Amino acid sequence: MLQSIPFDQTASFKKLKTHHKTISKVHLKELFEEDPNRFKKFSIRLGDIVFDYSKNRINGRTRGYLLQLAEEVGLSDAIEKMFTGDKINATENRSVLHIALRNRANTPILSDGKDVMPDVQEVLEKMKVFSGKVRSGEWKGYSGKTITDVVNIGIGGSDLGPVMVTEALKPYAKKGLNVHFVSNVDGTHIVETLKPLNPETTLFLIASKTFTTQETMANAHTARKWFLDSAQDTEAIKKHFVALSTNQKEVAAFGIDTANMFGFWDWVGGRYSLWSAIGLSIAIYIGFQNFEQLLLGAYEADQHFRTTKPDKNIPVIMGLLGVWYNNFFGAQSHAILPYDQYMHRFAAYFQQGDMESNGKYVGRDGKPVDYQTGPVIWGEPGTNGQHAFYQLIHQGTKLIPADFIAPAVSHNPTGDHHAMLLSNFFAQTEALMNGKTAEEVRAELKNSGKTQEEIDFITPFKVFEGNRPTNSFLVKKITPKTLGTLIALYEHKIFVQGIIWNIFSFDQWGVELGKQLANKIYPELKSDAPVATHDSSTNGLINQYKRWR
Ligand code: F6P
Repeated sequence: MLQSIPFDQTASFKKLKTHHKTISKVHLKELFEEDPNRFKKFSIRLGDIVFDYSKNRINGRTRGYLLQLAEEVGLSDAIEKMFTGDKINATENRSVLHIALRNRANTPILSDGKDVMPDVQEVLEKMKVFSGKVRSGEWKGYSGKTITDVVNIGIGGSDLGPVMVTEALKPYAKKGLNVHFVSNVDGTHIVETLKPLNPETTLFLIASKTFTTQETMANAHTARKWFLDSAQDTEAIKKHFVALSTNQKEVAAFGIDTANMFGFWDWVGGRYSLWSAIGLSIAIYIGFQNFEQLLLGAYEADQHFRTTKPDKNIPVIMGLLGVWYNNFFGAQSHAILPYDQYMHRFAAYFQQGDMESNGKYVGRDGKPVDYQTGPVIWGEPGTNGQHAFYQLIHQGTKLIPADFIAPAVSHNPTGDHHAMLLSNFFAQTEALMNGKTAEEVRAELKNSGKTQEEIDFITPFKVFEGNRPTNSFLVKKITPKTLGTLIALYEHKIFVQGIIWNIFSFDQWGVELGKQLANKIYPELKSDAPVATHDSSTNGLINQYKRWR
């Protein structure tokens, strides 16, 4: 059980409050001028990843107080509890053991007194064999043809992870074997996905931890019908439908042979499940060896998180910096900006990872907290973002801490593209930090031949205050291993923040209410009779829908 420690009652919180008054007046530029060793002091190397957090509005004292905060809220104890299977997901009475899924040392990890590792290894072995058969062409469809297209049907954690990873690791894909993802219950998603596909060469992975999620089940039934319209034989389902789930009963009820079920367990949270059977589409797409490299990268991040001192611990520092801006500077959001086109779904993935985990207002003591918890996570790949929303980051009225991520080596070294991309990556964090003073603007305008009147008018608009904080992740190359490490670092950052904010990060009761109401409204939509059971707005909208449909 995790302790309940309201973080705003700690001594370090008070120290940070007072300290904030001073440091918030200091410009990042001054911090760099004062200390030529800042990069060295405020960056950490982990394998092929450099994490530079020197462009943050902190000094050694800030870091000291933040680390003291981590200590006061019992962070090390909480980390140990997660790694040893304590039921830290208390509201669901579950352990939180995604770390077991990538425990490459295979050392025993207990949940409810039982070592989970033999089960983990068994499913991994099954995934290895199955993905190998699909990739080699040994696994045939009902008419004897090789599988060319794999469609993963799932939503939330049963979709976003595999989508993000298969996109990020596209260079490792096998030619002629495509993956597709259907998540939205909007019929357009499945209809458009199936249009170009041939039922004889299509394999469906029905990915759902519960196997009861409305969207996934609706899409799975539509896929089943589409398939049977062609195959005309329910026996053929075996060769074309597999399940990734914890719910054997519902899998069997759907008509999937449970021999074709890849299991996982209630101690794997949906948004932390890409490392489990939910990752089968990844293993098929990039090959099992590469999937193992992804696990290895995450394992190295896990070891780092568990054993490295807090001041050299990347997820601890990431988490603390987020708290610093969220709770002391009043920042409302956090941007994730990968300078890598393949990573275009990385921010979307961590929107669920972070916001479903830490979007909570009730503390671990069951009472509402009186401070801010999880930020809004958002982002798009650079340089596209630069031409869309960076204006607001540079000159808007909101403070938006941002993570910049870039590989030093591109998978596509075409002409000068990568140097251009990276020059933007380096330039943006420098510009956000330094800004541009009125003197610099005036000198530039003068050089360009503007009149004094023009200079006086335009100068204020061209001034950049700077002092905008950023983290930079420079990765040697985006490989299965480095990607695994990056993802796990972000997962652990979420953990750190949940511990500090004294909330439960591993449940998601907030998504239930909408689901319940949708289940109530759905039968009401069957008839044309007007409804009067809701508020006037909901009644009005439903009745207009009925008139128009
Ligand atoms: O959105 C709520 C949620 O429970 C997520 O946490 C989960 O990832 C998603 O639904 C899908 O759930 P399942 O895998 O059970 O279909």
